[in-house]
Amino acid sequence: MTTSNVESPLDVAQIRADFPILHQVDDEQHPLVYLDNGASSQRPKSVIDCLSDVYAKHYANVHRGAHRLSGESTDLFEVARRAVRQFIGAASENEVIFTSGTTMGINLVARSWGDSNLKKGDEILLTEMEHHSNLVPWHQLAERTGATIRAIPITKDGQLDLDFLPKLLTERTKLVAVTAVSNVLGTINPVGQIITAAHAAGAKVLVDAAQAVPHEAIDVGLWDADFVAFSGHKMLGPSGVGVLYGKEILLDEMPPFLGGGSMIDMVEIDRFTPAMLPAKFEAGTPPIADAIAMTPAIEYLEEVGLERILQHEQSLAAYAHELLSDVKGLRILGPEVTAKAGIVSFVVDGLAASDVATFLDGRGVAVREGHHCTLPLHKKLGISASVRASFYLYNTREEVEKLSDAVHAAVEFFG
Ligand code: ALA
Repeated sequence: MTTSNVESPLDVAQIRADFPILHQVDDEQHPLVYLDNGASSQRPKSVIDCLSDVYAKHYANVHRGAHRLSGESTDLFEVARRAVRQFIGAASENEVIFTSGTTMGINLVARSWGDSNLKKGDEILLTEMEHHSNLVPWHQLAERTGATIRAIPITKDGQLDLDFLPKLLTERTKLVAVTAVSNVLGTINPVGQIITAAHAAGAKVLVDAAQAVPHEAIDVGLWDADFVAFSGHKMLGPSGVGVLYGKEILLDEMPPFLGGGSMIDMVEIDRFTPAMLPAKFEAGTPPIADAIAMTPAIEYLEEVGLERILQHEQSLAAYAHELLSDVKGLRILGPEVTAKAGIVSFVVDGLAASDVATFLDGRGVAVREGHHCTLPLHKKLGISASVRASFYLYNTREEVEKLSDAVHAAVEFFG
């Protein structure tokens, strides 16, 4: 029995009822089949209602005013920080920094920790499957400091080739930056194993968890990660808010990244002293309502259960593998379904990814096409673009069938 035959552990019909956007019908014949969750998820009514409730009843700037509304808004903002801390297993709220998203979190570490700790001759170890957000900040850091970039290669089936790790991890390695789940291949990387090896070599580790935190239960303490970055908008939360987790001992000694209001303890005309954590890294007005609405997003994910969500998505991915396997000239990128999350990217011989995706859109099937911000990975795979279907808790087996039918029709149409 393949995993695709396993019945979903979720009551998907009930879940779908909570997501208003999934019920918009612009095209009676081709209702929306939303398979672009890797780019951004949709959000349940509880998150949308929370945003509107904050703006209608509780909104003011946080950590500033002496008035009632500012107090309410500050309390809700800190409740969200506690919800995040508990959700990812951080030891303290001081380890939870609200950012604008994964990209900002990684840039913060590169600018603050990186500029203070790297010098010429040091090495930063990346992987060939990283998103540009977990490449370019390190390129820029290497340019500023003279450090060198190295990368763990991938195997033919799109997994990290950890046989190279002992050679690549040396006393020169100061940082390993790795994605927990590839946004293209879906590969679930052995983050804990990489962190153990990196720490043994004296390196720190940043985990890009943008594609992991929404889909699998993460415990930053079990990983023993030094830094973990992720975004709200991929995990049922609002866009414009993200989280950087960092070990308190590291964040404590790091200089602030952005300067401005909130991040100071004292300012004179020619100097300042930074605030304590976490304010030190939250300069300016934060994404107040967006951070507050992380609470219902987390509550929703916890109520459904991350283990069951991953199991559901993997069964959809397995079903997609099965249904797409007889499409002439179609090649699915990445490993077997057992080694990946609910992401199915593919190329079709002789067909442009953009043509396939546009054809699918004509049938209501929303997917992403292009290089998905992973140009080095696409180069390594010998392709310029791919089509990506990425599943979430509200997707159904019927939607996978619609994807497959549309891909079969596209190949017939263009073929
Ligand atoms: N990083 C997002 C993706 O992979 C935008 O689509």
